[in-house]
Amino acid sequence: MSQNYEPQILNHPLIQHKISIMRSVKTGSKDFRALVSEVAMLMCYEATRDLPLEDVEVDTPVCHCKTKMIAGRKLAVVPILRAGLGMVDGILSLIPAAKVGHIGMYRDEETAKPIEYFCKLPLDIKEREVIVVDPMLATGGSAIDAVNLIKQHGVTQIKFMCIIGAPEGLAAFRKVHPDVKVYIGVMDDHLNENNYIVPGLGDAGDRIFGTK
Ligand code: PRP
Ligand code: URA
Repeated sequence: MSQNYEPQILNHPLIQHKISIMRSVKTGSKDFRALVSEVAMLMCYEATRDLPLEDVEVDTPVCHCKTKMIAGRKLAVVPILRAGLGMVDGILSLIPAAKVGHIGMYRDEETAKPIEYFCKLPLDIKEREVIVVDPMLATGGSAIDAVNLIKQHGVTQIKFMCIIGAPEGLAAFRKVHPDVKVYIGVMDDHLNENNYIVPGLGDAGDRIFGTK
């Protein structure tokens, strides 16, 4: 039977604090980029809480002991370009052995429907647990299509991590991918008439890369 996971809204004080700075129009690209990476690292700490451990034996300076290490599960991080790129370094700082795939999508400005323009995934992706990352879950279209693409490559264990979510996007995503564990930094109120998250932080890609 396929799983139906409850989304985890992290709401951690450090995450809320950093996201509040990101929201401000006064925060420039340099600080915004650093904050995206820091929030991703904090979120990764929670999203890896269920990694299995195995017993190992270690000689400390004091004695021989039995202790625990992560049981060799192979991970991959897949950012949705462009804005997802900003989350990769923070995650790799905690799991440096993870491989990185890339999926390029942008929203058509008129319809807000995602358009795929790039996909390059690790060759052994289907043997890996995959964490898909994108700072924004608005209508959910980009995240839904990215996860569809990854499933088409045979991946069965997938997590999706975003910094800000909208209720509309979360509902749409869960309808299509109830088997994917979702981690959200904070939930916002609604989408506006242009399908931007309110209050949100504007266009995450433009703010990371300074393109507007
Ligand atoms: C943003 C964001 C998500 C998408 C979310 O990307 O980074 O990928 O919009 O919106 P959705 O949930 O309605 O699909 P955008 O399309 O602006 O591309 P960019 O990252 O290249 O700026
Ligand atoms: N994409 C963004 O970058 N921001 C939004 O508010 C919605 C989609």
